[in-house]
Amino acid sequence: MAKQKVAKDQIKQKRIALVTGGGDCPGLNAVIRAVVKGALNHGWEVFGIERGFEGLLHKNQVRKLDASDVRGIAHLGGTILGTTNRGNPFKFTVKKQGKEVIVDLSQQIADRFFDLGFDALVTIGGDGTLKIAQQLAVLGIPIIGVPKTIDNDLAVTEVSFGFNTAVTTATEAIDKLHATAKSHERVMVVELMGHYSGWIALYAGIAGGADVILIPEIPFDLKAVARKIQDRWRRQRRFAIVVAAEGAKPTGGEHFMTLRETGHERLGGVAEFVAKEIHRLTDRETRSLVLGHLQRGGQPTTSDRLLATRFGAAAVRAIDKGERNVMVALQSSKIITVPLEQAIEETKFVPLDSDIVCAARDLGISFGDEADE
Ligand code: F6P
Repeated sequence: MAKQKVAKDQIKQKRIALVTGGGDCPGLNAVIRAVVKGALNHGWEVFGIERGFEGLLHKNQVRKLDASDVRGIAHLGGTILGTTNRGNPFKFTVKKQGKEVIVDLSQQIADRFFDLGFDALVTIGGDGTLKIAQQLAVLGIPIIGVPKTIDNDLAVTEVSFGFNTAVTTATEAIDKLHATAKSHERVMVVELMGHYSGWIALYAGIAGGADVILIPEIPFDLKAVARKIQDRWRRQRRFAIVVAAEGAKPTGGEHFMTLRETGHERLGGVAEFVAKEIHRLTDRETRSLVLGHLQRGGQPTTSDRLLATRFGAAAVRAIDKGERNVMVALQSSKIITVPLEQAIEETKFVPLDSDIVCAARDLGISFGDEADE
């Protein structure tokens, strides 16, 4: 049978949608740029959904992205599409007669996705957003996930973009704390982000030369921390830097939570507690600070821009190959795709026997779990 020639204009041009969800993170714009440029090179159309999944329901929040929209954005922090970490369509909060009511918008979102003729939804997000994406996949939306989080806590990818920038910002902050801690002979306790894992605190703490690093994976005993500090004074090193991951907790204790302006609870408060206790146990002058959202802002580092760009380009390749419901990931220095279901299964915690924890211990850094000798 003679081969039938398919005219180029008969091949359906793909229309893909792109959304950023959850907390922002340096490198999001580099992914957006890579997806748009990659897709345009295939002759496809790309539409950006603004302010998370719910944006699909609003005509003015679905905008066509052309080359000019993504020109010169790879080095910019934030996301040109906007984002929210309160935009779960399955449990969406709306105000009705002054009261907050939870509604399920998921089916409306799926219907709208298909009405608009989209072929895939590139979802750039962390564990929360990717879990929502997985539920949307069950409703039939073909998802290509791109892992983003400064926390670096997604198990199936060696690293997520945003992490390197956050660690760099935190390390610079610790460097600055050294000067003031030394001048005033103080203990400075700095609280870093990371959610329930200690990657940012561990990496920045080691790179910044902290004396004590408290991470969620190793519950701490303040007596061990106090001994480390007193030992420094005994050796005439009359200052100390304590890095505390926001998720760190005392042995047998709970995570520290604070109430945000919205009335919702979030991790926070460990540094203030630790500083007070250190002062009580050592009588050394102590100050605490929370580095907070500075870790999420600013220009992505070179390595985050590169990783974000590789992820974005790989997402387009995955669509081109007909893959769906997968997430791009970095494994053994290669970008691969993993089933979305698998991608959201596990949180990546700091392994206690990892060489990085061993290196810190070898250097005499305290994790607040050392026995009294
Ligand atoms: O997951 C990223 C992260 O920055 C965490 O490290 C932190 O716990 C949380 O988001 C803060 O969220 P919000 O932007 O709601 O304060």
